[in-house]
Amino acid sequence: MLKSLFVLPILLLSILSPQQPPATSTPSSIPVEAARMVNPVRPTPESQAHAKKMYGYDCAMCHGANGNGKGELVADMKLVLKDYTDPEALKGLSDGELFYIIKNGKGQMSGEGDRARPEDLWNMVILVRSFAKR
Ligand code: HEC
Repeated sequence: MLKSLFVLPILLLSILSPQQPPATSTPSSIPVEAARMVNPVRPTPESQAHAKKMYGYDCAMCHGANGNGKGELVADMKLVLKDYTDPEALKGLSDGELFYIIKNGKGQMSGEGDRARPEDLWNMVILVRSFAKR
């Protein structure tokens, strides 16, 4: 009840001022401090195997089992995905940016949020980058 007293004015504000991005949308720009974060994780065969498993459940249906961007949802959802087997694909993005997108989502992708531990997400960043090396 008390919570809705706070939410209502914010809701009204965002309806009344069209220039403001809606508060609930996934972020389109990544905070500088998030982009600069350095991957604290040292991958082990076990942690990468775990990341691979998570990837199979949560990511492969869009990004493809080997990261080529040809997952089974691509046609239905009209997704435009990068091919991570191409070393150029992720060149312009820092580890921090990849972490942020995997956690928070972007555009048609919903993020892992708090479902995964940060170290699992950092391992996911390493896995996603490794698709270009196979
Ligand atoms: C519903 C389909 C879908 C799923 C599931 C999904 N993604 Fe994405 N992903 C996308 C789309 C679409 C983009 C491009 C978003 C944009 O730029 O608007 C994207 C972007 C990314 C990016 C940023 C680099 C790029 O390609 O532009 C990374 C990294 C990424 N996804 C990794 C993952 C990982 C890891 C998972 C699983 C934890 C995952 N994605 C699950 C659809 C998906």
